[in-house]
Amino acid sequence: MKPNISITKVEKSRVNTLDFNNIPLGTTFTDHMFICDFENGEWVNPRIVPMGLIPTHPAAMALHYGQAIFEGMKAYKDAEGEPMLFRPEQNAKRLNLSADRMGMPNVSEDLFVDGLKELVSLEHNWIPPQQGSALYLRPFMYADEPFIGMRAATHYKFIIMASPAGPFFSKRIKLWAEKQYIRAAHGGTGEAKAAGNYAAAIRPTELAKAKGYDQVLWLDADEHKYIQEVGTMNIFFKINGEFITPELDGSVLHGITRASVIEMLRAMNYNVTERKITIDEIIEASENGILEEAFGTGTAVGIAYIQEIGLEGETIHVSDESPVGIEVNDTLSAIKTGQLEDKFGWMLKTRKELA
Ligand SMILES: Cc1ncc(COP(=O)(O)O)c(C=O)c1O
Repeated sequence: MKPNISITKVEKSRVNTLDFNNIPLGTTFTDHMFICDFENGEWVNPRIVPMGLIPTHPAAMALHYGQAIFEGMKAYKDAEGEPMLFRPEQNAKRLNLSADRMGMPNVSEDLFVDGLKELVSLEHNWIPPQQGSALYLRPFMYADEPFIGMRAATHYKFIIMASPAGPFFSKRIKLWAEKQYIRAAHGGTGEAKAAGNYAAAIRPTELAKAKGYDQVLWLDADEHKYIQEVGTMNIFFKINGEFITPELDGSVLHGITRASVIEMLRAMNYNVTERKITIDEIIEASENGILEEAFGTGTAVGIAYIQEIGLEGETIHVSDESPVGIEVNDTLSAIKTGQLEDKFGWMLKTRKELA
């Protein structure tokens, strides 16, 4: 059933105050946000309202027990200036996977996608036209019931915010393979996009940055040898002509870029295997000269080419060039901006001013 979304517009848009050629990272928000409340077992009052503060009780359960999950995705403009969303139904599915793990209610795909479409249509002037820029969308859900005690909350908010993001130039990155701290254990919350997973990653990431690395490469919790994923990306290795990416074993985020890149590589006639892979296998492949390239995949960056992986007492040189990674990145960007035919059927067009 189509949700009936009420809309309260701002009197005057702030969009003219933004310098689209110099967008500050993560601090600019559009004029409006989408909000919906979960009460008495159902989502009620879907609405778009001016962006602003939300009164929060100090006992709101998300603040204490961490029932908070989120999504990340981007809206782009096609050649005619129409907004387009990349596989939004996949984000809806993943939000609900996260919600299930965290004991939170599901959001129907209709509510999720219609909320996004309405907001993006209303905010289409905020989608930066510059190549490589996009409107970042952050759907999230948190427990806002004031209650002290350990149980699933009965009141939640589902909100979508939008924040213009400047061009992201894929650069070569260095990863730190972390053997002391872990991100996810079997049976834990690794495949949920839960706020707490990111909280636990902050200190190890700061330590890796202090050593000169860009992001952490997470290893498994039991033996610290199986590769899981990167701080905000999944990871692919090209070894002896074939691609390998860690399997989704419950501890790895189901990356939407990951799933798309697997399809693209297979369409390019590469073998792609989803399996367990150890850091020792990467060291050996590098020593034998068959580690051809490696890259991270994620919404924020698209493809990030990996130059080097550091770990205690060792540095793995990956590669100085990433021909396949670059081809995949260019193709994916062109599909997202309507410059290339969307033969995978990934893009959802959203009319300007739907509202
Ligand atoms: C931990 C983690 N892994 C992987 C990804 C990549 O997922 P996606 O391709 O859906 O952006 C992200 C980004 O959302 C992430 O935070």
